Amino acid sequence: MTFMCCPNCQSDLTLEGESKETSRVQKGTIKCLNEKCGQIYPIVNFVPRFVNGGYYANSFGRQWRTFAKTQLDEGATKESKLRWDSEITWDRKDVSGKTIIEFGSGAGRFIDICSKLGAKLAIGIDITDAVDASQENLGDRENIFFIQADIFKPPIKASTIDLGYSIGVLHHTPNPQKAFSKLVRLVNDSGSIALSLYDISLYRRPNRNSLKILTMDLLWALNLWRAELFRTFTTRLPAGVFLAYCRTVVPILHYLNRIPFIGKVRYLFPCTCYKNLPVDWSMLDTYDTYVTKIVHQYRAKDIFQWFLKEQLWNIVVTNSRAGWVSVVANKRSDTSFQHEKYIYEQPFAPGIKSGPD
Ligand SMILES: C[S@@+](CC[C@H](N)C(=O)[O-])C[C@H]1O[C@@H](n2cnc3c(N)ncnc32)[C@H](O)[C@@H]1O
Repeated sequence: MTFMCCPNCQSDLTLEGESKETSRVQKGTIKCLNEKCGQIYPIVNFVPRFVNGGYYANSFGRQWRTFAKTQLDEGATKESKLRWDSEITWDRKDVSGKTIIEFGSGAGRFIDICSKLGAKLAIGIDITDAVDASQENLGDRENIFFIQADIFKPPIKASTIDLGYSIGVLHHTPNPQKAFSKLVRLVNDSGSIALSLYDISLYRRPNRNSLKILTMDLLWALNLWRAELFRTFTTRLPAGVFLAYCRTVVPILHYLNRIPFIGKVRYLFPCTCYKNLPVDWSMLDTYDTYVTKIVHQYRAKDIFQWFLKEQLWNIVVTNSRAGWVSVVANKRSDTSFQHEKYIYEQPFAPGIKSGPD
């Protein structure tokens, strides 16, 4: 209650008719103290609910309820931590003892990482009932708190949060830059912000030294065109129908994909298939890619501009994997900053020899 506020009028809130289990409120209501507003918001299953539906994002609710545990770093893979390290880069030193917020927390895989890195409190906001999946996954940890709310109207007071981030979310919203602005507003002056979005794949300028890379780029671009062509149909299907396809057909394509040559058959179907990840990752990401209606993509310099416009400091484009553009920054210039942490070896362009020695 110390950092939450009414998403409508930003006034303070009060807790009413609560039923407590341990230190948490399982069921109750939150009321806006501004008499003119007087909005009442329910708390259901430990989660305050400031919206009662996901609107354009509803397909994600179904996605995370169905594949609630797939991407948590519990089992065979450590994929989520690998992504965190390459995109967000904050380590135990940065996160420990801090209040941290994620915009669009889904099933909570990155909130899990913040909690393990020793956050004082990791808050996940999501507009859909994905919060039920994340609450089920992680809600028993003392330093985790989920809120069902719209990131365009966050029920959080300005400048109350130490670290704010969002991974793979804002490009699925109607106005990504505006959502980013909302995130920045919540972070205090000694805090930091991190953002990771889809990158735009652009063709390289061809030359004889880069023909191999150029061919890879071309095949990748064709693959994206193929996906977009399928999406004109799949985004119009009822989400339940496409989910049934993901559960039945995609596993067949996933295993076929491991067979040389024959595996190429998968390109005739809408699917995202992984060779090195479990089958439910392919099912989940096929659903994610082909059902989501809104998709924006960005160049690093676009996102850099957003950070400049918000007057952020020490802006760094991190060494994220292909397909992602990820940027971190501090709210103020006097916040400690280790630039060495972000320097990485860049590979030479193939075919170009450096001199006689
Ligand atoms: C692709 S998922 C990413 C989830 C998580 N960050 C991850 O990478 O696992 C996008 C999430 O953003 C949420 N989302 C989209 N628009 C939102 C909004 N306006 N407010 C809050 N959450 C939103 C969706 O419900 C969904 O769970």
